[in-house]
Amino acid sequence: MKIFLIAGARPNFMKIAPIVRAFDSCDNNTIEYKIVHTGQHYDHEMSKAFFDDLSIPDPDFYLNSGSGTHAEQTARIITSFEKICIEEKPDIVVVVGDVNSTLACSIVAKKLLVKVAHVEAGLRSFDQSMPEEINRIVTDSISDYFFVTEKSGRDNLIKEGKPDHAIHFVGNVMIDNLLYQKEKLEKSNDLSFKSVSLKKSLGLYIFLTLHRPSNVDNKDILYSIIEALNLISKEIKIVFPVHPRTKKMLDSFGITLSDQIHCLQPLGFTEALFLWKDAKAVITDSGGLQEETTALGIPCFTLRENTERPVTIEKGTNVLIGNRKEDILSAWDAFTHSVQKIGCIPELWDGKAAERIVDILLNS
Ligand code: UD1
Repeated sequence: MKIFLIAGARPNFMKIAPIVRAFDSCDNNTIEYKIVHTGQHYDHEMSKAFFDDLSIPDPDFYLNSGSGTHAEQTARIITSFEKICIEEKPDIVVVVGDVNSTLACSIVAKKLLVKVAHVEAGLRSFDQSMPEEINRIVTDSISDYFFVTEKSGRDNLIKEGKPDHAIHFVGNVMIDNLLYQKEKLEKSNDLSFKSVSLKKSLGLYIFLTLHRPSNVDNKDILYSIIEALNLISKEIKIVFPVHPRTKKMLDSFGITLSDQIHCLQPLGFTEALFLWKDAKAVITDSGGLQEETTALGIPCFTLRENTERPVTIEKGTNVLIGNRKEDILSAWDAFTHSVQKIGCIPELWDGKAAERIVDILLNS
């Protein structure tokens, strides 16, 4: 059986790492897997650094799709992935998450009558102004295997008419990766990260990430978020690895950050974990960090009105705070002056999701 595993953007790399390990450790020698990197993210810090950090083997195919409008980027991935699919004839294409690469490669596979397996299927924010929501809906509309991370994923898919037998509640590969890398980090004596001395000097701090177009592409919204963060940074320092999109927008709008906000280049997975696992709180608009903070019990404030990952609110440490200055400040005030939310670990977030996925792919 020939399986293609697709990765394109930074959040995909964490998700394929445990699947690669699960493939490598299974003794079924009828299976051949190939890694396809679409090139959606291409900067060293956004791509190669993750492959090295997470010990993912070099991709078998690199599509070099690069940035552009959604149509340009998606079209380039479709065109180049189709050629490889026709030549290599995989039996199954495994896509993860909700980025443009997920969408583009599913469409190509399905039209060539290749089975599509979607890891992290069924998540819905019910907000179609989010490009990722469209990617999720379209990918799920043509997938053959649905691997879900939380109960809401199954419920959404059933409501959309997907067959029950194709939906598999397997847990969360993002958490497989987190638990694996956390253990490795704890065993490692050799911490050569640039941020080791910064962390020592900070005392208490917040870890911040910010990159979603709805937060950073509009000047007033970005200004309002940064104004709130500048005020919070008077009480507690903030560490901020800056995504390339956000850097570009901050520069072009001429928005300045307080000197209590420590801006860093985008970080590798382990160095980011090294920083956020000991943070007083995380403020983010990322999808993955909402889940990872829940898994480690770190308070998380999400700069969005909705989430496709409701279990992080119902069971975990996540709180939605939107992107308005007053709301961010009042959420911070409530956090510092009242009882903090205590979370618990969602069902099956036990580090074994990738093993379950590979088992199902090989035996169904
Ligand atoms: C993409 C995903 C988003 C994910 C995010 C994580 C989609 C629709 N969005 O958003 O779900 O949370 O990745 O990072 O797929 N750029 C660089 N270097 C790079 C990559 C991008 O400088 O290696 C710059 C480019 O100028 C580009 C911009 O960042 O225009 C945005 O990149 P893009 O891949 O379009 O989307 P992200 O915002 O990263």
